[in-house]
Amino acid sequence: MNVIVTKDYQEMSMKAFELVKKVVTENPSAVLGLATGSTPLGLYGEMARDHRENGTSYRDVKTVNLDEYEGLDVTSDQSYVYFMRENLFRHLDIDLKNTNIENGRAQDPEKECARYNALLEVMRQDLQVLGIGSNGHIAFNEPGTPFDAQTHVVELTESTIKDNSRLFARIEDVPRRAFTMGPKNIMNAKKILILANGANKAKAVYGLVKGEVTEQLPASVLQRHPDCTLVCDEAAASLL
Ligand code: GLP
Repeated sequence: MNVIVTKDYQEMSMKAFELVKKVVTENPSAVLGLATGSTPLGLYGEMARDHRENGTSYRDVKTVNLDEYEGLDVTSDQSYVYFMRENLFRHLDIDLKNTNIENGRAQDPEKECARYNALLEVMRQDLQVLGIGSNGHIAFNEPGTPFDAQTHVVELTESTIKDNSRLFARIEDVPRRAFTMGPKNIMNAKKILILANGANKAKAVYGLVKGEVTEQLPASVLQRHPDCTLVCDEAAASLL
């Protein structure tokens, strides 16, 4: 794993942006795997600024997002599809038809997982952007998820519900279940870029880089990826 430590969040976002821009410039119809959460917001801000100032085009770029809360769709401002449109897509010239995410309100969750897996087969990510949960989760793959799992519905752990509740009015409003790509879908990406900032991620980052490769710390599977880069700030890197 390549590890890049930056002095702060701003520099982390800029470094991540440079890596994303390189992929899109080299291949204007690249498939980008994207993530939600507060970590990639700075990266998305840089992509928007660069599009505005330099005209970098996303017209032919396709995206696949990692995960979505069960029961939520674009009509809810807590949904991940809403997050992506608000924080990234509406600032780019991307065609919304080229953006993909699990349908949180699918009638038949199993069928929805199968649909998403089939889509990922034909849309292999040129680059997958990831954040990391404080318990070492990636996407919504909680500790104990088999490394060979594909898109599935998960019960969120209490720690994830608590972490994510800051974005909801009340903790009771956080959905208990979510759709998520599995570790296998993530590992299938040609390149992986994982971002982390803040001291609350330091333990998870240690497990990601130096810990044992174990399903108890889902991000540790990335040690087996041939082209994975971690960009993190000094606080997140403090235990390395
Ligand atoms: C959520 C998302 C993950 C994300 C994690 C960390 O659980 N499903 O994809 O990486 O939170 O979020 P944050 O970046 O806000 O710390």
